[in-house]
Amino acid sequence: MGKTKIEFICQSCGYRSPKWIGRCPDCDNWNSFVAEEFKRDTKKRDTLATEERVISITDIAIENIQRIATGLGEFDRVLGGGIVPASLTLIGGEPGIGKSTLLTQVSNNVSDNSKKVLYVTAEESLGQLKLRAERLGLLSNNFYIMAENCLDIIFEEIKGLNPDLIIIDSIQTVYLEDIPSAPGSVSQVRESASKIMEFAKKRGITFFIVGHVTKEGSIAGPRVLEHLVDTVIYFEGEKGHNFRILRAVKNRFGSTNEIGIFEMTDNGLKDVTNLSDFFISNRVKNEPGSAMFVTIEGTRPIAVEIQALVAQTNFGVPRRMAMGVDNQRLNLLVAVLEKKLEIPLFNYDVYVNVAGGLKITETASDLAIAMAIISSFKNVSLRSDEIFIGEIGLLGEIRSVSSLEARLKEAQNLNFKRAFIPESGYKKLFLEEIIDISKLETAISMCFF
Ligand code: TYD
Ligand code: MG
Repeated sequence: MGKTKIEFICQSCGYRSPKWIGRCPDCDNWNSFVAEEFKRDTKKRDTLATEERVISITDIAIENIQRIATGLGEFDRVLGGGIVPASLTLIGGEPGIGKSTLLTQVSNNVSDNSKKVLYVTAEESLGQLKLRAERLGLLSNNFYIMAENCLDIIFEEIKGLNPDLIIIDSIQTVYLEDIPSAPGSVSQVRESASKIMEFAKKRGITFFIVGHVTKEGSIAGPRVLEHLVDTVIYFEGEKGHNFRILRAVKNRFGSTNEIGIFEMTDNGLKDVTNLSDFFISNRVKNEPGSAMFVTIEGTRPIAVEIQALVAQTNFGVPRRMAMGVDNQRLNLLVAVLEKKLEIPLFNYDVYVNVAGGLKITETASDLAIAMAIISSFKNVSLRSDEIFIGEIGLLGEIRSVSSLEARLKEAQNLNFKRAFIPESGYKKLFLEEIIDISKLETAISMCFF
């Protein structure tokens, strides 16, 4: 039988401590420790192994995995080519981002293919679920739904129905009866997920579980489950923008390089395949303060417009504000422009924005950011058919970046004519004019004489 013990557990990362601490030493969150009762299981656990415990690796036969298509190309891409049977995937994201929408669409599409799908909602009513499903398309009879919070009951139902795919929405609202702490607490979330995992592997059923991410850390976040599940996918998006990004942070059956991009429409999520078009279609040409850049998301190039606004500071310390790029990076670039090029930005507020709401995390965008700032400062527009790629060092030098070829090919597809890039061997290979530069001054003197 089990012994009960009290432990304090960080609700956002799962760090355990015998006493209460104000700040989590692991994830740095404040006030995130909650006392939880732990039942240490002293009885021997069932193992998934067969009687023979040690066998030669060459004796293991692997059947060809038949992945299941989700009906959403971008989702399949992130999963590594479709759903792997008997796997457990965690879909994390902030409330309202579209997790239930995505999984309802997947349930609908998969149940069409003569497969049974069970969607367990522990947050919404069956009516709400049906309303959403109807909004998203034609319904199939193989799409089963259930509103239930108790995992023990859910498992009983599953045994009778025997579905191929099960959605648990969400892991923070279901509970196991013999765990004393509340739904959403670390021990409940962790134990529930490991029971689901055991169930998935033993019965060969595929599971998707939804996990909410909250900034306050008031409920146990998906981080405490990352090590346990097969695949972890995060759903991200910007407030006020209707595109959404799916990103795998762990995938036992594929790479974590690929991202999927969707547009949230009135009828659910739609694959966005022409990414560059999506992000630059609203571009205003020949305006000061705009510079074009090609970023790499996963393995795919996406053209984006970097916008800058430089305005005289009215009082006090000048503001530097970055949206879509790192604020520290912006400060650094402004310092380089002031010191190396003697541009008097100390008197000016500088705002930088990536049009369309995409977040750029790579330094290859430095040159485009700097050119957009200078263009706004001088009030002279750049040519609308040129792009800028390169990292800027503290000495004002242009440093090389990854995937230059893929970026230039994308620029070529989009009919750009001229590219400023770090020194390389790509002279005229893709565009009419490719200018290798080693210093920021060169680009400035060629663009603003
Ligand atoms: P939802 O899937 O409920 O989010 P989550 O499960 O991550 O909390 O999505 C909620 C938002 O999506 C809500 O603001 C409405 C919007 N939405 C659409 O724009 N189009 C649609 O077809 C659907 C179903 C939802
Ligand atoms: Mg939901």
